[in-house]
Amino acid sequence: MKLHVKAATVNRIESDVWTLLVTHEGWKQDLHHNLPQLAKDVVSHLEHIGFEAKASEVQLVPTFGKINSRFVCVAGIGDKEKVHVSTVREVVATLVRQTTRNKLNSVVIDFSVLNANTGFEGLSQAAAEGAFLGSYTFDKYKSAAKKSPSAETNVYLVVPPNRLQFAANGVKKGEIFAKATMYARDLVNESPTITTPTFLAEQAKKLSKKDVLTVEILNEAHIRKLGMGAYLSVTRGSDEPAKFMVMTYKGGGKKKIVLAGKAITFDTGGLSLKDAKNMETMKLDMAGGAAVLGVMSMLPILKPKVTVVGLIAACENMPGAKATKPGDIATAFNGTTIEILNTDAEGRLTLADVLSYAVTLKPDMIIDLATLTGACMVALGEEIAGVFSNSEDLTKSITAAAKQAGELVWSLPLEEAYRESVKSDIADLRNIAKTRYGGAITAALFLEEFVGQVPWAHLDIAGPAFEEKGSSLRPKGGTGFGVRLLLELLTTFK
Ligand code: BES
Ligand code: ZN
Ligand code: ZN
Repeated sequence: MKLHVKAATVNRIESDVWTLLVTHEGWKQDLHHNLPQLAKDVVSHLEHIGFEAKASEVQLVPTFGKINSRFVCVAGIGDKEKVHVSTVREVVATLVRQTTRNKLNSVVIDFSVLNANTGFEGLSQAAAEGAFLGSYTFDKYKSAAKKSPSAETNVYLVVPPNRLQFAANGVKKGEIFAKATMYARDLVNESPTITTPTFLAEQAKKLSKKDVLTVEILNEAHIRKLGMGAYLSVTRGSDEPAKFMVMTYKGGGKKKIVLAGKAITFDTGGLSLKDAKNMETMKLDMAGGAAVLGVMSMLPILKPKVTVVGLIAACENMPGAKATKPGDIATAFNGTTIEILNTDAEGRLTLADVLSYAVTLKPDMIIDLATLTGACMVALGEEIAGVFSNSEDLTKSITAAAKQAGELVWSLPLEEAYRESVKSDIADLRNIAKTRYGGAITAALFLEEFVGQVPWAHLDIAGPAFEEKGSSLRPKGGTGFGVRLLLELLTTFK
C-alpha cells in the first residue's frame, strides 16, 4: 500500500476507484454536483439497495467507462462541515479493504469537497491510519494460494492545493502511527512459542538507536538481585527465562513518562489452570508490552519532546513443577508482601514490581497497559478499555488522546471502600479480592498500592486488545490497542 497526496485539479486522476465523500442529508445533491454524467444512474442504484449515506457507509458502483475510473465509491461521512476523524479513518479502512480484496489497485479519495476550514492535517492523518490499518493482514502462515491478494495498491488523497502541506504532514504522522500499531499487532498474532520473553527482549534490543533510544535487558539473576519477588513468582513454573526490558527515549523537554506494559507471553493460569476455552486466546496476554514496544519503535522518528521510559517485565505463566502454589507468599520490589491465592491473577504480580521500580525513576507520570481482568470485559465489553487513575488531569488527557486516536476508553473508580478486599490476613496484600464482584476495580486498587504519590493511570485493555469478530479497522486478532492513544498523548508535550 502506498499513499500519495495530490493537489486537486480540474482533471480527475485516472484510477480504478474514485471516491466521493457525501453527507447523510445531501448525498443525492452531492452526486449530482460532483458527478453529473453518472449521478442519475448511481442514485437510482443506491436508492434501490437502500443506501442512506450514514457515517462510515461505503458503496462501490461500476461506471461502465463513463468517467476515467472503473468504479465510483460513495462514502458517507456524516456532516461535511465538521467531519470527525474517526469517521474518515473508518471509511478509508473499509474502502481500502474492499478494493484490495477486489484487486482494484488505484484508489482516489477526493478530500477537495470538504470545507476548507476542516483540519486537513488531522483528517489526512486519519485517512492514512485507515488506509494502512485497513490493509493489514497477518497471513504469514497461510499457504501461498490462500494468502490475500498482495498487489501494490496506490491510494491518492486529493486535497485543495493550499492544503497540500497540511495533508502531507498528516499523512506522514498517520503512517508512523499505523506502522507502530501494526508492529504491535504482529507481535500479538505470532505463535506464543515464538514470542517468548527472550524473543521480546531481542525485539526491544533491535529498537535501540545510539543515545536517542537506549535498551537494557535484565536477566533473572539481575531481577532477583533487585528483589522483584512478585514478578519472579510468576515465571517459576516456566522453562523460558524471564526478561525485564528498560527502554529509554530521550527527546528533551521537561517531562519524564514511564510506560509499563503487561507481557505474559502465555497465560495458562499457572497451577490455577485455565480451562481450554479460556486459554485459547492467551497469547494476547503480552498485548500491553507489545503496545509499549510499538510506541517505543516510532519515538526516534516522531521525535516528541519528552523522556519516555518503557518498562516490560516479560515472562510465561506456566504450571511447571516449580510453579508457585496457591498459598505461597511473595515479597515485591518495594517490600510489600503478597499472599498468592490464585496463580491466574499473575499480571498484577508482575506489575507490582514494575510499578514500584518505576517510582524509583521519579517520573512525572506512569501509565500502564494490561490485559488484566476478564471482569473489565464484563463491565465494558470487548471494545472499551477501563481507565483507572489517581489524577483527574491524567484521566482527562488520556480520554482526549483516545478520542483523537479513535480508541475507546471509559473511566472507572478506584473506590476506597473496596480496598479492604485486597488486604491479606497473613501478608500485606492478597492477589485476588475477597469478593468476586468488581474485579477490574479491585485489581486496579491492588496496583495502586505500588505507585505511591506519582500520577498514574492504569488501562485495563483485556477487551479491546484482541478482536474476535473482525472489522475493517480491527481485523481478527491483535489490535495494537493503546499505541495510537499513547503516541497522540506523547506528541502533546512541548
Ligand atoms: N490475562 C487474564 C485476563 C484476561 C482474560 C485477559 C480474558 C483477556 C481476556 C488475567 O491474567 C486473568 O486470568 N485474570 C483473572 C483474575 C482472577 C483470577 C481474579 C480473571 O480475569 O479471571
Ligand atoms: Zn491470568
Ligand atoms: Zn494474564
